[in-house]
Amino acid sequence: MNDTKSGIKIDRVTSWADSTVDYILRDKNAFSNLVRVTSHDYHTYTHSVNASVLGLLFGKYLGFSQDSLRSLGTGLLLHDFGKVEVPLDILNKSSKLTTEERKIVAKHPEAGIALLEKEDNIIKESLVVVAQHHENFDGTGYPHGIGGNEIQLFGRVSRIIDTYDAITTKRAYKEVLKPFSALLEMREAMINCFDMELFKEFICFDLLPKN
Ligand SMILES: [Fe+2]
Repeated sequence: MNDTKSGIKIDRVTSWADSTVDYILRDKNAFSNLVRVTSHDYHTYTHSVNASVLGLLFGKYLGFSQDSLRSLGTGLLLHDFGKVEVPLDILNKSSKLTTEERKIVAKHPEAGIALLEKEDNIIKESLVVVAQHHENFDGTGYPHGIGGNEIQLFGRVSRIIDTYDAITTKRAYKEVLKPFSALLEMREAMINCFDMELFKEFICFDLLPKN
């Protein structure tokens, strides 16, 4: 129970690898955008890859079609792309951000949309992830403070995936939580952020991986 990811199955990894290879081969522009994130901030890159892996597995668990998985996986790889416009001293700051700095960070979803909309072959559904991954189910998120089903399915899924990876990944300024503790923390302290039905599915997915 303390490490719910330890029993991850080889077939889940294989399915992710299939989707990822397919994505890289088909969508060179999106991948070069990811490389641009890498050169700006390595943590954002690793977080983006982790989120995409987890999102693809969760999307598969939810029964998403191949096209939907491709859109979701691409969106999660690029969800923080707008952080290329956030100064590194803010992104990597080890102490609490000031109000002004938080405002700068909070611009990254819209900055990402503005940059990615210029791409010819970006998938529209992938942009939903970029735009809505910080919107909370109760309307307290950003950039627009929309709530409930105003947030599209990919936005509600990515809010869960993004949060889970963020709190289970070690950073210089915070302790990492193990998977089970992370789920508890999400339920106890952040449940307002999530679509409850999807969050229940995420807990089942996390504890009882399907093929
Ligand atoms: Fe973000």
